[in-house]
Amino acid sequence: MKIALIGYGKMGKTIDQLAQAAGHQVVARIDVGNQGDLSAESLTSADVAIEFTRPESAFNNIVTCLENGVPVVSGTTGWLDRLEEAKQLVEKYQGGLFYASNYSIGVNIFFAINKQLAKLMKRYDQYGISMEEIHHTQKLDAPSGTAITLAEGILGELSYKKSWVNEPSQQDEELPIISKRIDKVPGTHTIRYNSPIDNITITHTAHSREGFARGALAAAEWMVGKQGFYGMEDMLS
Ligand SMILES: NC(=O)c1ccc[n+]([C@@H]2O[C@H](COP(=O)([O-])OP(=O)(O)OC[C@H]3O[C@@H](n4cnc5c(N)ncnc54)[C@H](O)[C@@H]3O)[C@@H](O)[C@H]2O)c1
Repeated sequence: MKIALIGYGKMGKTIDQLAQAAGHQVVARIDVGNQGDLSAESLTSADVAIEFTRPESAFNNIVTCLENGVPVVSGTTGWLDRLEEAKQLVEKYQGGLFYASNYSIGVNIFFAINKQLAKLMKRYDQYGISMEEIHHTQKLDAPSGTAITLAEGILGELSYKKSWVNEPSQQDEELPIISKRIDKVPGTHTIRYNSPIDNITITHTAHSREGFARGALAAAEWMVGKQGFYGMEDMLS
């Protein structure tokens, strides 16, 4: 598979290593210093593009891939206010877009456990619910995209929770997400159901970026030749 890497930071470099070890060819490595290389020429020589950049640049990078007929796998977080627009462009260009707020298989299992736990807790509103997410200090967005997906999983099951907030809250209808930034932490997410009688806690701890990179590479292999909008549930099912 021929891959164009858009964003050559921590994730781009990790994916590059894994891609080469798996026998794939990386035909373009695009970062801020050579953004001009994100062109029809570099993209049309690729079977798929993998995009891990920054919240403010992800949407435009995705549109450039769609315009040039190259399926794109994006993992950049913090731009999802434009996701619906991106889906419409997928239709318009008959292109391919794969998006996941978290490409780790373990986290996607954790998403399923989170929804299942919320379903079990439907009738027990005596539990106070909160979430904590910890990431490295260079992370630009808060809460993390993974925390938002987890929060949506809980809100989808519990009618007595109406919204999430990124601060401590005592409001019954709010789900507080506490974001902590600690040097070098790849990503830890904890959900707590606390009552005066007992606590239930579930945690996912990433030990490195490798899980995200492997998942993104698997999604890229899966996307070659595909049209439409997809996510992890499509690939894993
Ligand atoms: N979905 C997931 O599983 C997952 C996992 C890890 C990180 N992320 C997200 O992926 C993104 C990147 O993470 P990272 O750890 O690699 O960050 P990073 O800061 O190490 O790398 C981002 C790179 O993108 C480059 N960049 C910025 N604007 C660009 C543009 N217009 N064109 C090309 N390159 C550009 C930067 O120069 C930088 O090298 C973040 O949004 C992060 O939250 C998602």
